[in-house]
Formats: sequence, C-alpha cells, structure tokens
Amino acid sequence: LLFPEKPPSSAAAAAPTMSQEELKKKAAHQAVELVESGMVLGLGTGSTAAHALDRIGELLRQGKLRDIVGIPTSKKTEAHAAAVGIPLSDLGAHPVVDLSIDGADEVDPELNLVKGRGGSLLREKMIEGASRRFVVIVDETKLVERIGGSGLAVPVEVVPFGWQLTMGRLKGLFEGYEACEARLRRAAAADDRPFVTDNGNYVVDLYFEDGIRRDLHLLSDQILRITGVAEHGVFIGMASSVIVAGRDGVSVME
Ligand code: 5RP
Repeated sequence: LLFPEKPPSSAAAAAPTMSQEELKKKAAHQAVELVESGMVLGLGTGSTAAHALDRIGELLRQGKLRDIVGIPTSKKTEAHAAAVGIPLSDLGAHPVVDLSIDGADEVDPELNLVKGRGGSLLREKMIEGASRRFVVIVDETKLVERIGGSGLAVPVEVVPFGWQLTMGRLKGLFEGYEACEARLRRAAAADDRPFVTDNGNYVVDLYFEDGIRRDLHLLSDQILRITGVAEHGVFIGMASSVIVAGRDGVSVME
C-alpha cells in the first residue's frame, strides 16, 4: 500500500482545533459577561457581534438580564436584535450608552481599529463614540502591527454625489506617501452596482500595500476635511478593551 488506510496514531490523537467561528463566539460570550441589567447597550454589526446578540437574547429569555435597551449600529443588527427579543431604542432617546460590544476588521497594538467591512462604520462610530465603555471582540486573525496592514480594505463612507471626485481626492492624500489603491465598493461580486450603506451613501475602499505609516490623527483630519466624505473606518483610541480569542485561549488587551 502506498498510503496507510488509517492515519498514524499521532494524527489521530491530535487535539481538535477551534474553528474561527467558535473563536468569535468565545470572545462574544466573554464580552456579554460585562452586560448588567438596566444597561443601555450599543449593538455591533458583523458575524462576531451576531454571537453577542444571540447570547444577550438568550440571557433575557432566561430572566438573567432585565431592562436592557439596545441601540443597533445597522438595519441588519436591528432586525437580528428584534428577532432575539432585545428591546430597541436610538441615540435621540439615549444619547449616553453604557456599553457597546462590536467586532473589528483590524486591531493594532495601541487598540486602534479598522471597522466597516460590513459597511456600518458611520453608525458604529456614532454609537461607540457615545459609549462609556466600548469592548471590541475579535479572533486572533484581526491583530495587525499597523492599521491598513492586513491588505484588506480601510473603508471611507462618501456621499453618492460626485463620488468620483471624492475618491480621486482620497487617493491624492496618499500619493508620495503610502502605496494605496482606491476602489468603489460594489453591491456584490456579481453585481456591479455600488454598495449602498444604511445612510444611503457609497463606500470607497482603500487598500494599502504595507499599512498606514503616518500619524493616524493627522490622516483622520485630512480625510474628514474632504467635502463629500461622511466618515472613515479608522477608530482611533475609542476601544476601552479588546477581547481576543485565539487557539491558545482568550486574552484581553487594554
Ligand atoms: C461592520 C464592522 C464589523 O464589526 C467588522 O467588519 C467585523 O466583522 P466580523 O465580525 O464579521 O469579522 O465593522 O461594519
């Protein structure tokens, strides 16, 4: 026989490894332990935050949590939270949020984040910026040395009017500094129409060859000064802590 019929005993005895989805769930459940009855909660968007919504709904149904009000960061989260029985409100009624729990696309060693691959960055930044405590939940694949360093998108929400001009100005910010490519986000791989956010805006995705090297506050000011930009997905100094689930366990960055 060229190949053994059974795997060698060492492979058979290898410990099963957790899937990325299980890691996300682990981080989410740890964050939900911080939720107390009576809190106003910022409800994040994305596959990791979805596990937190499910857990909060479960605890409400079991009577272990009461009098929670959730402020959803997207229409998708609004529908999910309603489906699992989380009472909802908005920033008008609750301008101060006790605790927000949300995922992220990138986390750097200073706890700066990239968010918005799901397209909800504007509402996320408003709600998480109004929070006394903002806890980020990620699996270890989201950790980067430098913002923009994963090679994945750094999103910028722009108004549809004149988006080509706005995208050109965004790209111009990086010429001579970081190697950057700018692309209008599409609705789907097989759908060439622009992706439209819950606010009726478009998203320009910025891709960096080797991350962003300049001061993030300076860059944030430069981006926000471009007329036509609604918000960008770099969250600087907003996270109170980051719960990271990895194959070796859960750690907290503060
Ligand atoms: C949505 C976001 C998400 O939090 C971010 O994209 C992470 O998503 P996921 O938990 O699915 O990896 O910012 O706008």
